[in-house]
Order: sequence, then structure tokens, then C-alpha cells
Amino acid sequence: MSQISKRKQGHIEAVLSGQVNAKSVDAGFDRVRFEHCALPELDLQDIDLSVEFLGKTLQRPFLISSMTGGHPDAAGINAVLAEAAQTLGIALGVGSQRVALSGGGFQGTDRSLRRIAPNVALYGNVGAAQLREYGPDQMQRAVDMIGADALIIHLNPLQEALQANGDTRWSGLLSRLEQVCVQLPVPVIIKEVGFGISATVAMRLVGCGVSAVDVAGAGGTSWSAVEGWLSEDSQRAEMAEMYRDWGIPTATALRQIRAVLPELPLIGSGGIRHGLDAAKAIRLGAQLVGQAGPLLRAAIDGIEPLMAHFAALEQGLRLACFATGSGDLATLGKAKLLDEG
Ligand SMILES: Cc1cc2nc3c(=O)[nH]c(=O)nc-3n(C[C@H](O)[C@H](O)[C@H](O)COP(=O)(O)O)c2cc1C
Repeated sequence: MSQISKRKQGHIEAVLSGQVNAKSVDAGFDRVRFEHCALPELDLQDIDLSVEFLGKTLQRPFLISSMTGGHPDAAGINAVLAEAAQTLGIALGVGSQRVALSGGGFQGTDRSLRRIAPNVALYGNVGAAQLREYGPDQMQRAVDMIGADALIIHLNPLQEALQANGDTRWSGLLSRLEQVCVQLPVPVIIKEVGFGISATVAMRLVGCGVSAVDVAGAGGTSWSAVEGWLSEDSQRAEMAEMYRDWGIPTATALRQIRAVLPELPLIGSGGIRHGLDAAKAIRLGAQLVGQAGPLLRAAIDGIEPLMAHFAALEQGLRLACFATGSGDLATLGKAKLLDEG
């Protein structure tokens, strides 16, 4: 197995250890409170949770955030995630396709996902650091490899900087990204990996042609903690621990981006614990809500625990719609808050 494949396998073990979440920062949703509606005038089961995102209709506003690909366990996990996505009509992001692009084998990032999930919104994934090496043609290969509807490019400068041999050459990447956005026929979505995207960065991304942003904010899986967990060098591990709680909490990132970019398709992820967090993310401006770590912990035991996880997530969201008198997600997005702070 290559070094990159081993590291990706290590990421899964780190997340399953339960020791790599943020500690003293949370995603910020507990400070958001809906005004309760004692007279909803609608039936709970009739609430419409469907949403349109980048030209595709989803039955529920959920995204399985990019996780696995490029190591031996990835194919099995991705098959379970794809089955859930197809059954529920939600979006699915694969993990980084870097290993596959470099000829190291598809391992969970091939056309078999499309056979399991022919109708879902399926998103490819590469790191922005790879844009130094790869241009629009290779990005097209990543899209074709899985039959993706869009390509997610992740920005993870801090994670790379905390990694042994991580890629810390980030100058000039914006113009490379612009080239990809102009030439790729499918939409480009930009995400972080758990440190958040600021309003300033979001505006620069939109300026270069990015179609949607996933804030992937702080408060859930901490990629500093993951790198610290994996590090065999004690000084590096200490440095990673220092940055465990770095980042823009997810609720803050959503609020700030929505204030300056009212029309930008937006995904809220990073530290989403349950359906009420999902409802609040939608209220703060997200069209889709993503989870990674919590889904991995459910999917590792197979499709049943994963479906049970999604049933609870959906019910939590549905209850928030009901108790705010919102018959659909557009109405929930405008529901009254008690305290905007
Ligand atoms: C095991 C695992 C692997 C991940 N690999 C990737 C990846 O390859 N590409 C990416 O963009 N994000 C990756 N992520 C980051 C997630 O997509 C997400 O942004 C982050 O974990 C925050 O969400 P959470 O708090 O719900 O876990 C990974 C997350 C996990 C848990």
C-alpha cells in the first residue's frame, strides 16, 4: 500500500477512535434559537424536505461529506454510503481521488458507485494542493472516473502544514482554480475540511467561478487532532494539539458568507450533530447539510445503523419545521429566531 493510501486508512482509524473532535470550540448552533410556533397549521408528515441543488432535486437536504477513497477499506464503506444515498435521495461526496489520479488504483472511487446510486447527486473530490500538479484535464478525469455531477475541491492548508511531508506551497493556487472552473463542464464546489471558509475567501472563490461553497467549519472532526493522532513525532503531535480547536465555527461561517453572498449555493457542514443543528444550518443560509465523522461511525457497522442515523437526522429536522410552522425548507430558511446573536 502506498504512503498516501496508508495515511487515508489512518484517517479512518483516527476518526473511529473517538478522540479527534474539537474540544473547546463547538459549531455554534446551541446559541441559535428558533421562535416556537404553537399553532403550526400543518401536518408533520406533509412537510416537504426536498431541495434543489446545482440543478438536481434531492428528496432530503443532506450530503454525505467527502470521506473515503484510495485505500483498501474504501470500496466497502463507499458502497454502503452509496446505497443509503440512493434510498434517501440525498447527495454523496467521495473522498479524495488523488490516489486514483496518480495511478494507485480506484479503491472506492470508480463507476461501481453509479451502479449502486444511479440517481444521486454525486460529487468527486480532489485537494487544491493537487492543482499545482494537475490541471483541468485531470479534474475531468476525476469527474469521469465516477460519473460525477460536480467536483469538490478541498482547501486544507493547515492540515497539510501539520502533516509530515504535507504540501505547504499554496501560492498561486487561485489562478489554477480559476482555470479549472472555466474549463470544467460540471460545477466546482469548494470546501474546507473542518476549519471553515470565511466571507472574504468565499468572495474570492465566487470571483474565480466557483459554483458553491461548503463551509466545513470548526466544531466537529478536527483535522489538527487527526494529524496529531497519526503523528509519530512528539513535537509535531504537540503542535497539532495546539491547533485542535482552530477555525471558524460552522454557524459563524454560514452567517458571515450568507450576509455578503445572498445567492451563493451553500452547504453547512462541520460538527453537525443532529437534525436540529441541520435545521439551524438551513436557517443560517445552507441549502444542504453535510456530515462526515458521524456517518463514518454509523456506516462502519453497515447499512442498518446508517439508515437509523439518517432517520433520526430527518426526524430532528422535520420537528424543527413543524415547531416553527414551516411547511418546506424555504420557509424554514426564513423562520423567526429568538436571538440573532
Ligand atoms: C475519515 C474521513 C476522511 C475524510 N477525507 C476527506 C477527503 O478525502 N476530502 C475532503 O474534502 N474531506 C475529507 N474529510 C473531511 C470531511 O468531509 C468534513 O469536511 C469534516 O470531517 C468535517 O465534518 P464532520 O465534523 O461532520 O466530520 C474526511 C473526513 C473523515 C471523517
